[in-house]
Amino acid sequence: MKKLEDYVRSIPDFPEPGIIFRDVTSILQDADGLHLAIEGLMESLKDVDYDVVVGPESRGFIFGVPVAYEAGKGFVPVRKKGKLPCETISAEYDLEYGSAVIEMHKDSIQPGQKVVIIDDLIATGGTIEAIIGLIEQLGGQVVKICFVMELAGLKGREKLSGYDVESLITYEGK
Ligand code: PRP
Ligand code: MG
Repeated sequence: MKKLEDYVRSIPDFPEPGIIFRDVTSILQDADGLHLAIEGLMESLKDVDYDVVVGPESRGFIFGVPVAYEAGKGFVPVRKKGKLPCETISAEYDLEYGSAVIEMHKDSIQPGQKVVIIDDLIATGGTIEAIIGLIEQLGGQVVKICFVMELAGLKGREKLSGYDVESLITYEGK
């Protein structure tokens, strides 16, 4: 019986020398890999009381929506700058490679709502730190943050101290 980590393809020296890229497309394209990933995330949330799932464009959509659907919750997308049509709040953050601006609709989270964040990967933690800031600005309460994969060597978890963080697969390196 294959485990979830068996479905992750690792590509050395992508996108730059010394980096091992952990590819999620090899999980997604296999029915059993996809099932293991979504069931793993559901298991991480089985004792969590929450109202809504938030996921960042684009790989956070892939894993966030099936979990929200399965759990009977709504899904709120965090989008890259300029994509959302109504009033937004935004945050700039540093990425592993460069920087970016993300946005959420102002009316996407109601004050007091309990929010779960889902993404494919935590590297430096910059993306999720920025998203937590936006959710809290809107009055939401982040009750759990789930990743499919974690690059522990980049210490992204340190940026999320005080929050309940769980990853299905942890890689010790970068
Ligand atoms: C990747 C990945 C995470 C983020 C992790 O997304 O999907 O969202 O980087 O990095 P961090 O922990 O250092 O912030 P990316 O911005 O490359 O965009 P994508 O999801 O659209 O591929
Ligand atoms: Mg992403």
